[in-house]
Amino acid sequence: MRRAAAVLFALVASTALAQDAGKEIRRYREMVAEGSPAELFELGGEALWKRPQGPKNVSLEKCDLGQGPGVVKGAYARLPRYFGDADRVMDLETRLVYCMQTLQGRSSEEATAHVFGTADEPSEMESLSAYIAGQSHGVKMQPGISHPKEKAAFELGRALYFHRTGPWDFSCASCHGQEGKRIRLQELPALSERKYAGPVAASWPAYRISTSQFITLQWRMNDCYRQMRMPEPTFGSDATVALILFIAATGAGETYAGPGNKR
Ligand code: HEC
Repeated sequence: MRRAAAVLFALVASTALAQDAGKEIRRYREMVAEGSPAELFELGGEALWKRPQGPKNVSLEKCDLGQGPGVVKGAYARLPRYFGDADRVMDLETRLVYCMQTLQGRSSEEATAHVFGTADEPSEMESLSAYIAGQSHGVKMQPGISHPKEKAAFELGRALYFHRTGPWDFSCASCHGQEGKRIRLQELPALSERKYAGPVAASWPAYRISTSQFITLQWRMNDCYRQMRMPEPTFGSDATVALILFIAATGAGETYAGPGNKR
């Protein structure tokens, strides 16, 4: 589509100026990382993990994130993965919704009603993801790639990544397809390549400096589909989980360095 190509060309500029700015953004990120606001969300998330809630009035402390009931340490680094009890591949947030339903007796509608919060009011999901991801800091990332359903999810994620769709005929790769691309000074990593997918996967979920919010990969998928002028995906859908597994598995082996900081 020629119009889409023209729009994309206008949006994406990789000038010398942008490269200087990129260096500054990286420096700023390093400064912020030394005392990251993400820690506040981690503390909030830990309290929520331990707080009895829902019709059954129990906490999430017995939730099995893949390493056994209640094991939080290192769990995020092994996600997404296949869970036999649910018979599906789940990322962190999808698994949390499952635990909210099975342990706390909450409905999926209620558990996913406010998954994207604001700076003043972070959502339960965002705070929980900050806490749980933080417990994998320094752990090598090894999402599930051996179970047939994991393999199928990876293939679905790859297909979705390259599938052109929507009014502008964009795929993920239209923006995240080439080295050195930028939009609004933000780097656009080619997520189908190990060297870019690794550091990206190792930095999410993250604190977003420009909006003072804590953001999750589910949020990122929604926001990129919005940029593609596509309808908002269902929270924790097979499609978003597949894309997240595709990125995580492409970047496997990276040491988890998050929760990170984004512009
Ligand atoms: C129209 C261009 C566009 C398309 C198409 C697009 N994205 Fe993005 N994506 C962006 C921009 C811009 C950012 C950075 C946003 C920011 O930080 O302000 C981004 C950021 C990301 C990030 C975070 C990168 C990092 O450095 O942490 C991921 C992951 C991502 N996109 C995945 C996807 C996936 C998966 C798709 C397809 C479903 C997709 N994107 C489609 C523009 C796009």
